[in-house]
Amino acid sequence: MTKTVNTTPYTDQKPGTSGLRKKVPVFQQPNYAENFIQSIFDSLEGFAGKTLVIGGDGRFYNREVIQIAIKMAAANGFGRVLVGRGGILSTPAASHVIRKYEAFGGIVLSASHNPGGPAEDFGIKYNIGNGGPAPEKVTDAIYAHTKTIERYKIADVADVNLDAEGEQEVAGMTVQVINPVSDYAELMETLFDFTAIRAHLAGGFRIVFDAMSAVTGPYAKEILENRLGAAKGSVLNFVPLPDFGGHHPDPNLVHARALYEEMMGENAPDFGAASDGDGDRNLIIGKGIFVTPSDSLAMLAANATLAPGYAKGLAGIARSMPTSGAADRVAEKLGIGIYETPTGWKFFGNLLDAGLATICGEESAGTGSSHVREKDGLWAVLLWLNILAVRKESVVDIAREHWTTYGRNYYSRHDYEEVDSAAANGLMDALREQLTTLPGRKLGDLTIETADDFSYHDPVDHSVSNNQGIRILFEGGSRVVFRLSGTGTSGATLRVYIERFEPDATKHDVDTQVALADLIEAADALAGIKERTGRTEPTVIT
Ligand code: G6P
Ligand code: ZN
Repeated sequence: MTKTVNTTPYTDQKPGTSGLRKKVPVFQQPNYAENFIQSIFDSLEGFAGKTLVIGGDGRFYNREVIQIAIKMAAANGFGRVLVGRGGILSTPAASHVIRKYEAFGGIVLSASHNPGGPAEDFGIKYNIGNGGPAPEKVTDAIYAHTKTIERYKIADVADVNLDAEGEQEVAGMTVQVINPVSDYAELMETLFDFTAIRAHLAGGFRIVFDAMSAVTGPYAKEILENRLGAAKGSVLNFVPLPDFGGHHPDPNLVHARALYEEMMGENAPDFGAASDGDGDRNLIIGKGIFVTPSDSLAMLAANATLAPGYAKGLAGIARSMPTSGAADRVAEKLGIGIYETPTGWKFFGNLLDAGLATICGEESAGTGSSHVREKDGLWAVLLWLNILAVRKESVVDIAREHWTTYGRNYYSRHDYEEVDSAAANGLMDALREQLTTLPGRKLGDLTIETADDFSYHDPVDHSVSNNQGIRILFEGGSRVVFRLSGTGTSGATLRVYIERFEPDATKHDVDTQVALADLIEAADALAGIKERTGRTEPTVIT
C-alpha cells in the first residue's frame, strides 16, 4: 500500500518569509510538491504515530496537494491527520487546531495574499507543534533536504473524501475531516465579549466585512452574522473561490479599494474590515478613517483589557522592525516590554511561547496574540468590535484620542514590485556601503542620526538574524527603512517604509503623503530609487 518513488532534487525549494511559494505550474512539475513535503518530514524527528494537521486557503491546486500530503503522511508513519472539510483551514484556524489537539505539527497550503489560479501562486508551509511557522533552523534543514532528496514515500491508495466530516482510514493512518470553523469560533467566544458586541450591533452599529472570495468567508459568516447577529449581507464575497474571483486577496487600499470607498462615502457603515487569502491579515477602516496596521496594533494594545481574554493585562508587545513605533509608546506607558523583531511572523513565536509578549503586529496588516501562533485577521476585527462595543465611540474618536495621548506616527509604505533583481540588490548594496558615513548627513531640514542594517538577537534562543533591513533614523524620531520582500514570486520587490513622529495634536490632520513628503524625497536621494529601478513611482502605496 505504500510505495517509494525515486526522484531528483529541484534547486529552487528554499522557503522564504513564509514557506515555499511558487507559481502553480512550478508546483505541477513531476514530484515538485512531493519532494518538498518529503523534505519536511525528513527534517523532523519523533512523529511516528502522532497527529498532523493539514489545511489550506482553498486556492487553485489546494485539493490536489492535500491528497498528496495525506498519502505521504500515511506512508511516513503519522498516526492521524486532521484536515479541514473541503481542504479548508484558515492559517490562524490551522494554528489553533494544531495547539488544541496537541498535534505534532501542520502543513498549511497557501500563498497568503498572492493571487490564485492555474497561472498564479501556490505555497506550502510547515508549522511546528506550538502552532507557529517553523523557525529558521527547521526551514534551513528542509531546504538542505530538498537539495539531496532521492526518494519519497507515498501511500498507493484512492483519494480521501474531503467533503464528509468524520474518520476514514488511509494505509493504516486515520484521517479525520473536521469542521474548519467550529474550533476557531469557540476560541473567539472565550476571548471576546460576544454579548456586548451583539448588543452594540443590535443597537444599530453597522459593519461590513469583505472576505475577498477567500478563506475567511465561512468564518466571518458564522461569527459575525450567525453568532453576533450582524445584519445579513454584512459579510461580502464570502464564498472561497480557487482564483479569488480573479482578484488579489490582499486587504490593502489598492486591492480592497471598493471597501475603502464605501467607508469614505456619505452613508458609510460604522466599521469596515477585510482579510486576505488565508485569513491572517486584516484591514481596519472606520467611517471616514483608514487605520494603518501600525496604528491598529498600538490602539488594540492600549485598549486590550476591555476584552475578557486580555482583562489581566498584557505581558508585552512585539512588532516587526519596519512597523511604526506607535506601539512602543503604548508599551512605555503601560510599563511593559516592547520587542522589535525582523519581518516574518515566525520571529514572534519564541516571545509568545516564553510569555514575554501577548500582542504582536506587523505593518503588513498582521496583528495577533498569544491565543495562536499566527497572525489572525478575524481576531483583530473582533478585538476592535469588542473595544468599540465597550467604549461606544467611533473609530475616528478613538484614533484621535489615541494620537492626542501618545502622539501620531505618520506612516506609509511604498512598494516597487517586480523590479529587476540585480537592480534591487544593487540598490541595497550601495546603501549598505554608505552606512558608516551617513550619521550627521543633512538632507534638506533632516539630519541623519544613525543608520544600520538591522540585526536581531532573539532574547529566548539567542539566535542571531542579520541583514534584516536598512534603517535610517533622523533626529526627532523620523525614519526611513529599506528592505527587499521575502514573499514575492517574480523579480524583486523593494519596500520603503516611511515614518514621522508628530507629538503636536494640532498637526494630526495632515494627509499622510504630505506629512511624509520630505522623507519620501530623502529616501530617493539616499537610495537612488528612480534611477536604479527605472520607476518614477511606487506600484503600491499603503
Ligand atoms: C507574510 C508573513 C509576514 C510578513 C509578510 C511580508 O505575510 O507572514 O510575517 O510580514 O509576509 O513579508 P515581505 O517579506 O513580503 O515584506
Ligand atoms: Zn496571509
